[in-house]
Amino acid sequence: MKISDEHDSIRAVEWQDNSLVLLDQRELPHKEIYQKYSSSLDVSQAIKDMVVRGAPAIGITAAYAFVMAVNEEFEVNSDRWQVNLRSKLSILLASRPTAVNLKWAVERLQKIIDDISGDPRDAVLNEAHAINKEDYSANIAMGNYGADYIGSKAGILTHCNTGSLATGGYGTALGVIRTLYNRGNLKSVFVSETRPWLQGSRLTMWELERDNIPATLIADSAAAVLMQSGNVDWVIIGADRIAINGDVANKIGSYSHAVNANFHDIKFMVVAPISTIDTMTLSGEEIEIEDRGSKELTNISSYPISTDQASTFNPVFDITPAKMISAIVTERGVIETPDEGKMRSFLERN
Ligand code: MRU
Repeated sequence: MKISDEHDSIRAVEWQDNSLVLLDQRELPHKEIYQKYSSSLDVSQAIKDMVVRGAPAIGITAAYAFVMAVNEEFEVNSDRWQVNLRSKLSILLASRPTAVNLKWAVERLQKIIDDISGDPRDAVLNEAHAINKEDYSANIAMGNYGADYIGSKAGILTHCNTGSLATGGYGTALGVIRTLYNRGNLKSVFVSETRPWLQGSRLTMWELERDNIPATLIADSAAAVLMQSGNVDWVIIGADRIAINGDVANKIGSYSHAVNANFHDIKFMVVAPISTIDTMTLSGEEIEIEDRGSKELTNISSYPISTDQASTFNPVFDITPAKMISAIVTERGVIETPDEGKMRSFLERN
């Protein structure tokens, strides 16, 4: 993909000559390393290890891993290629549990192969490309809906990384911030560091610097005092899964930002494509929250920052209840003050 926009220059997932190239997000911001994968199981492992992360980017990567798995099995036995596919897909599905986009992408490709009798390889590749392209277009649409909804010049606080690194390009929450900037409506953007994996300080700061959008880094623990200062009009975040009642699973710390925002009368926006809404999940309580173990808390990279025996609690996502959310922005429009009735009628109408 050729990119010329100076405010949107990064692509984290690219299909090249039957291989998948991933920008290794474990190494940013100091090393820009692109890893090339030609086996579906290696891609599942890359998702698990967070070479690639962010719900939409995980979905797109999973779609290409599906393509690889189909190619692998078809080359071994073009008559019985579906037989061993299932075990590779189970490993892929288990690579990260919270981001629903992974399951969504696998189910979408499964439908393609269910309807095929001959060689499936072109059809699955075309579908994976379509998922990638649609995600980018959805982000542009969400950027416009979100910026229209905010309306005037605003100070923003964002959390985690929701930009081109986390999607097919442009970003969800960061897409709204990009659009506000392009329209001259971004007063300032504050980025919370996002402990423990530091998606804010390592990835969002890098992405915004690359794309020439000025930003200010804060410690997660500075969010309340920043909100008290009057410099934040909106908190804008992405989502890993949205339950049908409007509860939102997103990076750990999102709920703290919502509590602080509600206390300070600051608006709270969630930006996510329709593929992130899980109509089978009735509320946030049903969402599996990934626990990534103690190392992420006790170490920064390989450097120890706690005691050797520290016992830890490290859920990497949390649930923001629908009642704390001012608006959910999708590629088909905005759901204000979401609840189950509004979510269902929005999905029926759009
Ligand atoms: O653990 P991560 O880095 O995959 O978590 C990412 C997030 O929580 C993002 O906010 C979310 O996936 C939305 S990305 C557009």
